[in-house]
Amino acid sequence: MTPEEVTQLRHNRYNATVVSLRRVHSDLMVMRVRPDFPRPVHKPGQYSTLGMGFWEPRIPGVQPEELAPGDERKLARRAYSISCSVLDDHHELLDIERTDWLEFYIVLVRESDKKQAPALTPRLFLLREGDRLCLGEKITGHFTLDPVRPGDDVVFLATGTGEAPHNYLLWELLRRGHSGRILSACCVCYRRDLGYMEIQEALMRRYSSYTYLTLTTRETATVKRKVYIQDLITSGQLEEHLGHPLDPAQTHVYLCGNPRMIGAPVKDPNTGQRAYPQPTGVIEILEGRGFQLDQPQAKRIGNVHMEEYW
Ligand SMILES: Cc1cc2nc3c(=O)[nH]c(=O)nc-3n(C[C@H](O)[C@H](O)[C@H](O)COP(=O)(O)OP(=O)(O)OC[C@H]3O[C@@H](n4cnc5c(N)ncnc54)[C@H](O)[C@@H]3O)c2cc1C
Ligand SMILES: NC(=O)c1ccc[n+]([C@@H]2O[C@H](COP(=O)([O-])OP(=O)(O)OC[C@H]3O[C@@H](n4cnc5c(N)ncnc54)[C@H](OP(=O)(O)O)[C@@H]3O)[C@@H](O)[C@H]2O)c1
Repeated sequence: MTPEEVTQLRHNRYNATVVSLRRVHSDLMVMRVRPDFPRPVHKPGQYSTLGMGFWEPRIPGVQPEELAPGDERKLARRAYSISCSVLDDHHELLDIERTDWLEFYIVLVRESDKKQAPALTPRLFLLREGDRLCLGEKITGHFTLDPVRPGDDVVFLATGTGEAPHNYLLWELLRRGHSGRILSACCVCYRRDLGYMEIQEALMRRYSSYTYLTLTTRETATVKRKVYIQDLITSGQLEEHLGHPLDPAQTHVYLCGNPRMIGAPVKDPNTGQRAYPQPTGVIEILEGRGFQLDQPQAKRIGNVHMEEYW
């Protein structure tokens, strides 16, 4: 493809600009994107899409990609939760109304567990401030605070970048002056993968009702004794840190990230019965303790809400 064709495709297909980029490390970033159009009305916890052309270069050192003829003119699009840094540069709660961008928290996938090589993140990680990309014109999703009452305890459980929507939901709770306790836990491979750590520490100093818990699984000290989010619940540590029992009558649990941590039940095709996947995920543990997962098809809202990333 000629440079002129690339310029034309970018001009025709891209509708947003990277306005700030914070690289947590080579494979993790917080990126703010300003749309050319008015920022869509949305609720914290929802997601949009980002896209870049297959004509764009990919970062070196990732699984090689094979494109079918004609594919190089198409867009690779993926869903991304809207994230939030919660505090501004003066450590005050962000005044999001006065901003015109959306924040995203993204990890580079170097190799896919699927047949196809990762298409989008190897391209997103070559972006710099001022560069252009495609942003979805709709923001959508059911992962919101709608079911939460003012005094409820709210527990956010994440792996990796699954923390993104939780941070935006947390911002909303703090803005509302939520009176229940709030706990956010995140499980990552290495400590350096906690991209909002400094902000979380500042938030804990400022809000006595808020606790941020972290788990790492591949540091020298933890790799042989992995503690997953599931273990945090079964050991009782989560309740200890929350300061309350996990009471289904007044607690909402939000789960986001790795589907294996979440463990959403599936319908057995032979029996039609609802079955939990193995290894045991958080939903099996919580439902065993009287919680109920949302069932959007049956229009039933529970007290466990989930967003799977793949
Ligand atoms: C509703 C929704 C919201 C999402 N929000 C985010 C977000 O805020 N931040 C984010 O980084 N990703 C998010 N994702 C995942 C995102 O859509 C892409 O799949 C991901 O960025 C990889 O894109 P890719 O094209 O490079 O590889 P893909 O071909 O899309 O994915 C390849 C493989 O990478 C792994 N993978 C994908 N996403 C992640 C992840 N976040 N962490 C660890 N492993 C992963 C999976 O094994 C997946 O099969 C979200 C997905 C959904 C469905
Ligand atoms: N961050 C890294 O160092 C690393 C290393 C290799 C590959 N990758 C790739 O990089 C991308 C991003 O990865 P990521 O580390 O952000 O996300 P991730 O692979 O989802 O891992 C996030 C956290 O979830 C944990 N986890 C894995 N299986 C679990 C289960 N069954 N129940 C509960 N928790 C579980 C992981 O522990 P485990 O330590 O047990 O995985 C890790 O602590 C992915 O493509 C991943 O495959 C990352």
